[in-house]
Amino acid sequence: NEAPLKKLKDGLTSVKENTQLSNFDVNDGKSTTSITVVGASGDLAKKKIFPALFALYYEDCLPEHFTIFGYARSKMTDAELRNMVSKTLTCRIDKRENCGEKMEQFLQRCFYHSGQYDSLENFAELDEILKEHEAGRVSNRLFYLSIPPNIFVNAVKCASLSASASAGWTRVIVEKPFGRDSESSAALTKSLKQYLDEDQIFRIDHYLGKELVENLSVLRFSNLIFEPLWSRQYIRNVQLIFSEDFGTEGRGGYFDHYGIMRDIMQNHLLQILALFAMETPVSLDAEDIRNEKVKVLRSMRPIRVDDVIIGQYKNNARWDGVPFLMKAGKALHDKRAEIRVQFRHVPGNLYNRNSGTDLDLATNELVIRVQPDEAIYLKINNKVPGLGMRLDRSNLNLLYKARYSKEIPDAYERLLLDAVEGERRLFIRSDELDAAWALFTPVLKDLEEKKKIPEYYPYGSRGPVGAHYLAARYNVKWG
Ligand code: NDP
Ligand code: BG6
Repeated sequence: NEAPLKKLKDGLTSVKENTQLSNFDVNDGKSTTSITVVGASGDLAKKKIFPALFALYYEDCLPEHFTIFGYARSKMTDAELRNMVSKTLTCRIDKRENCGEKMEQFLQRCFYHSGQYDSLENFAELDEILKEHEAGRVSNRLFYLSIPPNIFVNAVKCASLSASASAGWTRVIVEKPFGRDSESSAALTKSLKQYLDEDQIFRIDHYLGKELVENLSVLRFSNLIFEPLWSRQYIRNVQLIFSEDFGTEGRGGYFDHYGIMRDIMQNHLLQILALFAMETPVSLDAEDIRNEKVKVLRSMRPIRVDDVIIGQYKNNARWDGVPFLMKAGKALHDKRAEIRVQFRHVPGNLYNRNSGTDLDLATNELVIRVQPDEAIYLKINNKVPGLGMRLDRSNLNLLYKARYSKEIPDAYERLLLDAVEGERRLFIRSDELDAAWALFTPVLKDLEEKKKIPEYYPYGSRGPVGAHYLAARYNVKWG
């Protein structure tokens, strides 16, 4: 059946070309945007996607004309979808007055259609309903695939062949996991590209939408005091830490198949690492930033099995010899995501002899706390007030909630808005994904082949003791 498929695809190609020519603006008043949440009955849709869409609506960030559709196999009426969605919507603290009214207006723009993920016919029905709502306007269509990965390709095929926009743009947000190693990821990309161009695919890594991760580049590139220090010359090690104080909850099956390295390290922490370590991009354009991130990923050597949580730079002058440590775990004693930058010792520090502290305590440390309690703080040495000469360590602290009263938007809000606006900076390009998998695939395979037994740790503890020995091998103490 190649011929009809090809014909359809050729049709799609010409649609894409038209789109580029016409370049419909989401706020031109003449076009409309239809956002379809595929897998609308699921956990992510309820917990994150609908609330993020409402928050954007509440802040007047969505286009003037838009409609939201839920699509899944479960049978539901529009009213039932609205009832389900209404349970998780919240309003921003600073503008509560019109909350109920805004929610009602938002819900009136939400509709539902039930169908299979592999049915061209069911997606064609969706297309008909979308058209009714689009009422002859030029339509832009965004599909959010909030479904298990084994059905991504079928859903993309059916959405693109039966329900893509006929004149405006069509974009598809794809949720992780993007494969489970280099081969399966490449196969997924190849399959998706049968139906979509790279610039229609928005691979989401929600950590890139977090406020403090966004702020990382601002911190580096707009403060003279940081950028010159951002290299092996001054930095001893960099720690990327993710911990959750709860377990896999209802996702045990998924975890058995993917594990924490694929769930957190290969994507969230590695994306932060790439942003942290990249050279200054030529501009803030998506492609310039993504080019620099790819260079970082390609300059790292694949992780070895006896280094399991360490990626170290090779042939990269800026970071030569600086250990980058990643730690990610569930069911630990605390919940946090942070970047810790430990600086080198001050050469010949005059105060070491008098400080009564060991060398480690006397070095500066910059902490970027992504969550909870977003903050950027710098540990400095100062003198304890008084007649004596005793040194102390204090924090210069930018605690967001003390500095800004406005609530920080959820990562999904920023990313959904970017997808609607066609901003690709915070989404993963396919060569970035390939480079990220190239780093992790060898060690994951090795671990699986060697059937390495994990070190068991009690629920709620500080995690495997081995992590400390590993860090010590590189002369690092976890922060
Ligand atoms: P769910 O397991 O809740 O699945 C979403 C929907 O997909 C379900 O409501 C169900 O809808 C349909 N579905 C589930 N299993 C199957 C199946 N085997 N075959 C066909 N349809 C199925 O997933 P989540 O909402 O938790 O996650 C969606 C995507 O987002 C996944 O790719 C996940 O990895 C990713 N993700 C999720 C996060 C989370 O916090 N939940 C965080 C980050 C990423 P119906 O039966 O009505 O068709
Ligand atoms: C997801 C992981 O990508 O991120 C989950 O699959 C994890 O295992 C979640 O719990 C953490 O996200 P956040 O935004 O709650 O830190």
